[in-house]
Amino acid sequence: MTSKQQQKEVIVITGGGQRVGLYCANQLLQQGYQVVVSYRKHSPGIAALYETGAHCIKADFTSLADIAGFVEALAVYPALRAIIHNASSWQADLPLAPVATTVNLLTQLEQDAAVFDAMQHIHARAPYLLNRALLPQLTASNTADIIHLTDFVASVGSSKHQAYAASKAALENLTLSLSRKLAPTIKVNAIAPALLMFNESDDAAYREKALAKSLMAIEPGPDEVLQSILYLLNSRYITGRILALDGGRHLNLP
Ligand SMILES: NC(=O)c1ccc[n+]([C@@H]2O[C@H](COP(=O)([O-])OP(=O)(O)OC[C@H]3O[C@@H](n4cnc5c(N)ncnc54)[C@H](OP(=O)(O)O)[C@@H]3O)[C@@H](O)[C@H]2O)c1
Repeated sequence: MTSKQQQKEVIVITGGGQRVGLYCANQLLQQGYQVVVSYRKHSPGIAALYETGAHCIKADFTSLADIAGFVEALAVYPALRAIIHNASSWQADLPLAPVATTVNLLTQLEQDAAVFDAMQHIHARAPYLLNRALLPQLTASNTADIIHLTDFVASVGSSKHQAYAASKAALENLTLSLSRKLAPTIKVNAIAPALLMFNESDDAAYREKALAKSLMAIEPGPDEVLQSILYLLNSRYITGRILALDGGRHLNLP
């Protein structure tokens, strides 16, 4: 680490290799922060971040050994300005086995449990463990923020992504507990987006249906998340809140 990097405020973003995490990492670097990102796959985005001065650490948050390695790699920073828990996997629930088949019950339970556990591990367990392990460095900062990226479905549920929605709801609940525990030293908030960005594989019919779900009916893109992050970083008073970023989707009533 260069002495110039040492002087900057440090922001950690999990899952910085693509899409929202990559965009926010690039923008926060440009704003003068020392940015640290986690990644699993080495992508062009990670290569570019590295070239721009980001500290990129490989870690799969379903693995306790990788979480330990991530925390150890962050030990070079005496103080952390913020950690943004963005890493995510939008796994669908598995189809229910038709009643008529002689499905092996244990196999089905194991497969369902694997989805459920992965969702909890990535979205709730990893933030819980990282927040606790990094507490001394967050506390050492003059002002510090923990920001959880959750999802609109955390408050309304989801028919096809039940395990995912439950894990994001767990993360919202951790936001409440942690904000109570850590005030006034550290602010803890969540950002709960509805649609931000489509995936490349989304077809026209899916896009039309998804856009129609919100009042604003747009694909807002990652800058909406960046603006929300900056708003929370700049606030001295907001904590324990779930910031809805959903285009008024909750009011798109029949
Ligand atoms: N995109 C949307 O429209 C939308 C809507 C609602 C909420 N959100 C939330 O907003 C955030 C950003 O969304 P996004 O679409 O940009 O996310 P994304 O592209 O689906 O995933 C972000 C990153 O998470 C990392 N990741 C996945 N599994 C991981 C694991 N086991 N361990 C460590 N890292 C892992 C991935 O790393 P690798 O690429 O290296 O594997 C990926 O770069 C997420 O928290 C998401 O739930 C997004």
